[in-house]
Amino acid sequence: MNIYILGREKELCLAELEAMLGSVSLINDEVAVSSEKASIKQLGGTIKTGHIIAEKISSTAELQSEIIKSLLASGFDKKFSFGLSHYGNSRINFSPIGIKIKRELQKSGLKPRLVMPKEDNKLNAASVKHNKLIGTGREFIVIQNNDSMSLAVTDGVQDVDSYSMRDYEKPCRDRKVGMLPPKLSQIMINLASPNQSSIIVDPFCGSGGLLIEASLMGYESEGSDLSVDMIDCSKQNIEWFQKNYSDTSPITINQAADATTLMYPEKPYSVVTEGFLGTNFLSNPTKNLVKEQLPELRNLYLDFFSNLNKQKVLADSICICLPFWIFNDEVVELNIIDGITNLGYTITEFKSVRQSVLSYYREGQFTGRQILVFKTNKEKNYVTY
Ligand SMILES: C[S@@+](CC[C@H](N)C(=O)[O-])C[C@H]1O[C@@H](n2cnc3c(N)ncnc32)[C@H](O)[C@@H]1O
Repeated sequence: MNIYILGREKELCLAELEAMLGSVSLINDEVAVSSEKASIKQLGGTIKTGHIIAEKISSTAELQSEIIKSLLASGFDKKFSFGLSHYGNSRINFSPIGIKIKRELQKSGLKPRLVMPKEDNKLNAASVKHNKLIGTGREFIVIQNNDSMSLAVTDGVQDVDSYSMRDYEKPCRDRKVGMLPPKLSQIMINLASPNQSSIIVDPFCGSGGLLIEASLMGYESEGSDLSVDMIDCSKQNIEWFQKNYSDTSPITINQAADATTLMYPEKPYSVVTEGFLGTNFLSNPTKNLVKEQLPELRNLYLDFFSNLNKQKVLADSICICLPFWIFNDEVVELNIIDGITNLGYTITEFKSVRQSVLSYYREGQFTGRQILVFKTNKEKNYVTY
């Protein structure tokens, strides 16, 4: 069985796994399990991947002996590092367990180095990576499941350095338009479940972050934006990306174009995009100012979906972020899902999550993002001009 340690936005991470793996279930709030395997490089929402090596462990003595057994059979050099993380509710103090295991291993002539989390019993992805706990060392993940524990070994952790480079080191960063975090871009691409040979199209590409993630995930991608400045910004970022990363797939930036009249490729594609969030979205506008923008934003999105329906080749799927705004006494939304489905799109429901509409919101921010996945109703395969 494969395990997936979920990132901060649990529901989004779970939906991503369901889209990738077909079926997934939860062991506890933090850990999902599936018989299917996905690589950490393909996932935006999973912090660590691993596989279970022992189940139904009911005592710490049993846990210790499973870990020792696994390390003795590992074939590691005499000197190696191992670490312990725990996910789920438990009052057990894991440091003494780690120290006992280290002493037992020393009795067998080994010279292990123990890496334990400072707080909350979890080693973060950076600690696992920097302490080389994968490959020449090992991280054990203890998963609490009601009264018993499962033991897993970590296979992969998110490459935090690379994410942070893509997030913060791109030459063109325009906070005014809002930039999609790389992990969220990856999650959205996976939620759309594109065929590997499909093109990922972002018609509101802004600074090009989503196209970069698509390229790293092995998809050809294509972007456009209404603003000539943003087209230029995307081009600068993509040039930087192609210089700094190898093993990338082709990215095309088209000329500035309006997403409500854009011509899409005449070959299979999925649309994955974060649309226009409204003006002034960073500067806490009043509720009235937000509400004044609603008709214009609703028209923009409905025209965008309507245009998609007129294409010779219809999109296989569409994953889009729509904005919502949080005030002390009210959450203001666009409320256009019915309008979109009336145009012939079907909203994708994820079995593993509670809400039909997924959302991404960071504490302290004032604009949130609803994340919606639609399939085109291809029965209505008509073209209008
Ligand atoms: C929220 S930003 C997208 C940011 C992008 N995801 C990123 O990470 O940089 C929305 C973009 O939509 C563009 N835009 C606004 N109206 C548009 C339209 N009608 N057609 C195409 N692009 C439009 C804006 O210029 C802006 O770059």
